[in-house]
Amino acid sequence: MKEHLQHKVFKCISECADELGLETYVIGGYVRDVILKRKEPKDIDVVCVGSGIELAKKVAQKLHGKPQVQIFKNFGTAMVQHKDLELEFVGARKESYRKDSRKPTVENGTLEDDQNRRDFTINTLALCLNKERFGELLDPFGGVNDLENGIIRTPLDPDITYSDDPLRMMRAVRFSTQLDFTIEKESLDALERNAKRLEIISQERIIDELNKIILSKTPSKGFKILFNTKLLHQFFPEFVALHGVEVVKGKKHKDNFYHTLEVLENLSKNTDDLWLRWAALLHDIAKPDTKRFENGHGWTFHGHEFLGSKMVPKIFKRLKLPLNDKMKYVQKLVLLHLRPIVLSKDVVSDSAIRRLLFDAGDDLDDLMLLCEADITSKNEEKVKRFLNNFKIVRQKLKDIEDRDHIRNWQPPISGELIMDTYNLKPCKIVGNIKNQIREAILDGIIPNDYEQAYNFMLEKAKELGLEKH
Ligand code: CTP
Repeated sequence: MKEHLQHKVFKCISECADELGLETYVIGGYVRDVILKRKEPKDIDVVCVGSGIELAKKVAQKLHGKPQVQIFKNFGTAMVQHKDLELEFVGARKESYRKDSRKPTVENGTLEDDQNRRDFTINTLALCLNKERFGELLDPFGGVNDLENGIIRTPLDPDITYSDDPLRMMRAVRFSTQLDFTIEKESLDALERNAKRLEIISQERIIDELNKIILSKTPSKGFKILFNTKLLHQFFPEFVALHGVEVVKGKKHKDNFYHTLEVLENLSKNTDDLWLRWAALLHDIAKPDTKRFENGHGWTFHGHEFLGSKMVPKIFKRLKLPLNDKMKYVQKLVLLHLRPIVLSKDVVSDSAIRRLLFDAGDDLDDLMLLCEADITSKNEEKVKRFLNNFKIVRQKLKDIEDRDHIRNWQPPISGELIMDTYNLKPCKIVGNIKNQIREAILDGIIPNDYEQAYNFMLEKAKELGLEKH
C-alpha cells in the first residue's frame, strides 16, 4: 500500500513519529478514498498511540520551522494546515458514550481500540507511517473487502455503533448514496430500530449529511433508504406526507413521494446546484394539504404552488437551512413551477409571456430545467409531446425577450418619482400606482416608454384624487 503514501508530507510525519518513538498511522477517509481512487483527499487524519498534539507540533516544526498548531481541546486533536492539506492529529482513543449525548468520555487506548470506535469498516483502514512498517495496512474488520464489494458495515454490533453516535445513521445513508454501496442487512435493521435516537443530534449536522445526499449523483437512493428506515420521519415529516396513493371511485392519483424523487433524479442529470435540487424536492410539497377529489374531475391539487411556496420558509427554518436569498430562490421556483407549461397552449398572449419573463427574471433558465424534469410520465408519446411543448415555450420566451427585454427590467417610473410628484412619503398608494404602471406595460396596455408611463401615472393618480405638488 506504499503507493498510496507518495505525498512528501507522509515522509515528514514518518520521520517525526520515529523520532518521538510513536506508533503512527494515517486512518479513515483518506485511506478509503485513495483505495477507491476517488478525488485526491485534502483531509488527512493521523492517529498515533500517544500524544497527537506532540506529534503535530513536531510535524509543524519540520514543515514550517515553527511548532505552531491549532489545538481543539475538547477533542484532544491538533490541526496543521500545509498548503491545501489539512492534517489532523489525534492520540488513539477508547471511548464510551452516555445515552443522552454525543459527547463521549475519552481514554487513551491502542490502535485497535481506536478502530473499534469508528463508524464503518471502510473507515477503519489504517496505513502505518513508521519507517519499519511504512505502508503496512491494518484492516481488522475486512474493510478492504467491503470496499471491493460495496458494503457499508459497522465494525461493532450496529446497535452499539449507532447508539454511540446516532449521526452515523445519516452517515450510513450518505456513504451508501455517494459511493453507491449497499448497507448490510443487520445494519439496515438497526437503522430502523435506532431511528428515534436521531433526536439528540443537532439539526445542523443532520442537514449537512442530507445536503451531501442531495448533491450526490443519485440522490433518490438516499431518500428511499431514509424513508424505509423511518429516519426521514424524524426530521422531515412534510416530505414523508407526500408518500402514498389514494383511490376514490376507482381513480387514483400518483404517489407524489416517488414522483418528486424522479423529478430530483431527472434534474440532477442537468445541475449540481444544491438549491435548484431543493426546489425540485419542495415543488409539490403542498400537494397533501391541497388534495381534493372533485366529482367529474378526479384528483386536484389547486393552489399547491402557492401554499408550497409559503411552506418553504417554515421548512427552511426548522431544518436550519439558510433564511436568505437561497430560500427566496427556492420559494420563487416552487411558486412558478406550473407557469411555463401553461404557455405551451396554442393561443397564448404576449402579455402572459412577458409576465413570466418578469416574474422569473434571472432564474428563468433554472425554472425551465425544473419544469422539464417534472415530466415523469411513463408514456413515451406524452413525454415527447411535453418536451416538444417546452421547446415551443422556450422559443416564445426568447422571441418576446429579444423584442421587449423584460428579464431584469425595471419599470420606467420609480417610487421616488411618484413620491416627488405628489409630495408623498413611502406608503401603500405609491406601491399601488407603481404596480398599476408595471401591470399596464406587461399587459401591453401602454408601451414600455417613459412618457406614456408618466401620463398613465397622472391618470391613475387623478382617479385616486391626488394633486400634483
Ligand atoms: N468518524 C466516526 N463517526 C463519525 C464521524 C467520523 O467514526 N460520526 C470517523 C471515521 O473513521 C471517519 C473519520 O472519523 O473516516 C473522519 O471523519 P470525517 O472527516 O467526518 O469523514 P470522512 O470519512 O473523512 O469522509 P468525508 O470527508 O466524506 O466526510
